[in-house]
Amino acid sequence: MSNLDRTSYEMPDEYRYTGFNTDGTPKKYYLRTYGCQMNEHDTEVMAGLLQGMGYVPTDSQEESDVILFNTCAVRENAEDKVFGEIGRLRPLKQRNPELVLGLCGCMAQEQGVQKMVLEKFPWVDVVFGTHNIDRLPALLAEARTSQATVMEVWDKAAETVEDMPKARKDNVRAWVNIQYGCNKFCTYCIVPYTRGRERSRQPEDIVQEVRQLVADGFKEITLLGQNVNDYGVDLGTSSFAKLLREVNDIPGIDRIRFTTSNPWNFSDDLIAAIAECEHVVEHVHLPVQSGNNEILKRMNRSHTREYYLQLVKKIRAAIPGVSLTTDIIVGFPGETEEQFEDTVSLVREVQFDNAFTFIYSPRENTPAARFEDTLTLDEKKQRLYRLNEAQAEVCLKRNQDLKGEVVDVLVEGASKTNAQVLSGRTRTNRLILFPGSIDLRGQHVQVEITHPQTFLLKGRMVTREEEVS
Ligand code: 5AD
Ligand code: SF4
Repeated sequence: MSNLDRTSYEMPDEYRYTGFNTDGTPKKYYLRTYGCQMNEHDTEVMAGLLQGMGYVPTDSQEESDVILFNTCAVRENAEDKVFGEIGRLRPLKQRNPELVLGLCGCMAQEQGVQKMVLEKFPWVDVVFGTHNIDRLPALLAEARTSQATVMEVWDKAAETVEDMPKARKDNVRAWVNIQYGCNKFCTYCIVPYTRGRERSRQPEDIVQEVRQLVADGFKEITLLGQNVNDYGVDLGTSSFAKLLREVNDIPGIDRIRFTTSNPWNFSDDLIAAIAECEHVVEHVHLPVQSGNNEILKRMNRSHTREYYLQLVKKIRAAIPGVSLTTDIIVGFPGETEEQFEDTVSLVREVQFDNAFTFIYSPRENTPAARFEDTLTLDEKKQRLYRLNEAQAEVCLKRNQDLKGEVVDVLVEGASKTNAQVLSGRTRTNRLILFPGSIDLRGQHVQVEITHPQTFLLKGRMVTREEEVS
């Protein structure tokens, strides 16, 4: 496939009003998402398509005409939850045979899952993959008339489909895909199989989408890809650094985030672009996965511990106040106590601002699933616990160092537990709570950090940004 293969989406006329009942009332959908931001954003596209047909969202599975599970395949426990949910829906499906029940997203791309659905969950009406989202209207129509489970899962994307409708969940922060898929083939990871090879969107399409989001009043744009620093390599005419500069130059743009980067190919030009672009925030999520070179090699990561530490040094030198977060896997097959200790020592050495830590989960057909696993689940849990303790200590110390600082905060809304308390994020992606009025949602305020905690900052508003001269 050439990356120039792109089409512009248009809803086929025959599906335009299929989201209405015969009495003119709208049908209802329930969409549940598992997994990463990429998946959350795919859900926004599915919601956009459904709403384009006339459907409205509901939180009630009982009232739904369509229930879709947009799934994640990265670890086994997420898959188990989905099968549990589908199992629980059998009685509802029996009571309401008109209900269309669907499974989509990354799990749908796995042959083992497709087989399992056909054999054990035949009440699922439709299964479609990550490359078939634009086919949703047609697949729902087919599922309504077919006796058997309708399955449409392509192993490769035929083309990049632009201009799909999107029902965004938020009106302050928006996700924008810049790249799909991954070419890295880390031995533990299922993503290259569920999302396919890397495909970059054309820079003009991305810039156009961001321009529109700015015009619509969005304040924070997150550029999404599995490996954003490889953006443009397949196009041959662009690079991630160039794209960041172009997005940064869009008139009226506010904050720009991006995720996820890979330590490999994190060029000096990219570091310079992050440092120079005033709207690009000072936060880099840089998954390290392990602090031991032998494990990194068996993970097929392209970096070593020394390379990673050097990169961290360069990023910190170029971007003052940058926050660095990471992903780490413990209990990789054959990981010895000493190798695990290398990961703990790396966490202390780098002083990450946050880390997402996981127990290794074997994924079907990935190389690591065939490696010999010598650890018990208890040992793996112990390691996870010890790593989390070490990281929590680092988090607390790093947050305490910020006490007394005044930071720019984009207000996201009321805190979960108290309507008088607002929650927002610093440019470095730290969550911060402070008293204030909900009218400030979507605005920038200056907040003094008064009570730093391990995973949270608390503070008090100093003044609105506009009032600071
Ligand atoms: N087991 C555990 N964690 C995994 N991740 C990816 N694959 C696996 C797996 N098989 C983690 C990695 C990745 C994050 C998104 O999920 O740390 O960066
Ligand atoms: Fe996202 Fe990967 Fe999970 Fe798919 S498998 S939802 S790409 S984390």
